[in-house]
Amino acid sequence: RPRVLSGIQPTADSFHFGNYLGALRQWVALQDEHEPFYMVVDQHAITVEQDPKVLRERTYRSAAQLLAMGVDPARSALFVQSHVPAHAQLAWVLNCITAFGEARRMTQFKDKSARQGEGAASVGLFTYPILQAADILLYRPAYVPVGEDQRQHLELTRDLAHRFNTRFKKTFRLPEPYILEATAKIYDLQNPTAKMSKSASSPAGIIDLLDDPKVSAKKIRSAVTDSEAVVAYDPAAKPGVSNLLTIFSALTGRGPVEIAADYEGRGYGDLKGDLADVVVDFVTPLRDRTQALLDDRAALDAVLADGAARAGEVAERTLADVYDRVGFVRPV
Ligand code: TYM
Repeated sequence: RPRVLSGIQPTADSFHFGNYLGALRQWVALQDEHEPFYMVVDQHAITVEQDPKVLRERTYRSAAQLLAMGVDPARSALFVQSHVPAHAQLAWVLNCITAFGEARRMTQFKDKSARQGEGAASVGLFTYPILQAADILLYRPAYVPVGEDQRQHLELTRDLAHRFNTRFKKTFRLPEPYILEATAKIYDLQNPTAKMSKSASSPAGIIDLLDDPKVSAKKIRSAVTDSEAVVAYDPAAKPGVSNLLTIFSALTGRGPVEIAADYEGRGYGDLKGDLADVVVDFVTPLRDRTQALLDDRAALDAVLADGAARAGEVAERTLADVYDRVGFVRPV
């Protein structure tokens, strides 16, 4: 079974629909035919300031949400990044084969550091994509299921893998991004030409998985659309309505154009009302399952320990190859 690997940051109390439709749903679906490694990337989270207590709680909440949505620890190694030291260790080696200018071209660093001023951004934020490359390459996965915003980081990962392989010896597999076009970018409900983002969107622009379902329904009813009052799927001309149709389509398995046809001669209010019902039906059980999982921390710890042990075994082997190939003396 081909391997897949992905990660998500524990930087919010809840994942949102962009995370879920862009990536996490694929994490769940890929379990049947693949060998998955899925992680909560706490080391990436601290590239911007975090309150330690909040970070720890969010790491548990992240793991609980992943299990609640169907990540199955019997088939997937689910773990916390900092539990597998090989990630930071390989990142160091990759730091040393990454050109400064190459790292500087990463648009996510440019966006994030622009907010605080480049001089104030942490060096960790700058080298963030290199740690991500280490996360991936350690497991030699075939595919990495992510949203569109991670494409550039995947390209860097492939470049670094290729560079290491040619400079030393073939060690890494060049991974393919696994990005589903229909849901690769879910947009902010209030600003439907920008992506739904935990750091950049206003609360009204984000549908969180763990929000009170009544609040989510209200956010959908207040979503920004346009003044045409014709329900049609046309992402360029009608980004707001099309984003709602994309979400509707992903949750029901019906095509966005087909759904739009149901609303011929009706207004946006009807579409929003129906989508709100679909979203409430989806999030309500997910929220209950997440809460139940959070009530048993010992069980969560056990799942994460098992995941880290399985991941660690694979990661250690790759790291040993890397250390050998760069010329480090083997400890005896
Ligand atoms: P993160 O935590 O920002 O997001 C997790 C996943 O959600 C996707 N995503 C979206 N997809 C569609 N529309 C949106 N509006 C949207 N917002 C977020 C992201 O593309 C991502 O797949 N750097 C990564 C975490 C990471 C990682 C890795 C991923 C660390 N190491 C190794 C893959 C492999 C990140 O910040 O994701």
